[in-house]
Amino acid sequence: MAERAPGDQRRVAILISGRGSNMRALIEQSSGYQVVLVASNKPQAPGLDYARGAGIPTWTWDSKGVAREEFEAALDRALRDHRVGTIALAGYMRLLSSRFVEQWGGRIVNIHPSLLPKYPGLDTHARAIAARDTVAGCSVHIVTEKVDAGKVLGQIEVAIEAGDDASALEQRVLEAEHRLYPKALREFVRQ
Ligand code: GAR
Repeated sequence: MAERAPGDQRRVAILISGRGSNMRALIEQSSGYQVVLVASNKPQAPGLDYARGAGIPTWTWDSKGVAREEFEAALDRALRDHRVGTIALAGYMRLLSSRFVEQWGGRIVNIHPSLLPKYPGLDTHARAIAARDTVAGCSVHIVTEKVDAGKVLGQIEVAIEAGDDASALEQRVLEAEHRLYPKALREFVRQ
């Protein structure tokens, strides 16, 4: 039986592992939800500095070498301490256990740089170009036990232009991500 998330669902924690540009978009465009915690499994994640500068509480623990169960128990405590009701993954690159996903009862969302169900996993842009697709894009979806497979909440399409390489395409898709994620999250917390 899935537990319900403890907090008001408009109280959002963002989980990051790196740069945090989506985190920044979520913070800058927050309306209808409040970012109450930024957590990271990488203490050196550049995105943490921005969160601190914005006055948002942060939590970090280097997950390297730490058992998944132990790490997630500590993360879960931090989330509950801050009465978080929704978790937004933003470039969080550590797989969450099915136990953790179940405990959060459908209250975890993620942004992914492809038009799901196409290209779950990594290297999405290179794969889209190699397949000679004409359209790429990004998706916000609910996190389930299966990677990048939960219900899609919103998508933006981005045209693949002649001469695009993976990094040019990544840049344009990233701009679309920054528009999509705050809007999709705002709608999700209302549900
Ligand atoms: C984003 O493009 C995000 O869609 C992707 O990682 C990047 C993080 O950038 N996420 C995934 O690939 C998850 N499967 P950011 O740290 O600047 O937001």
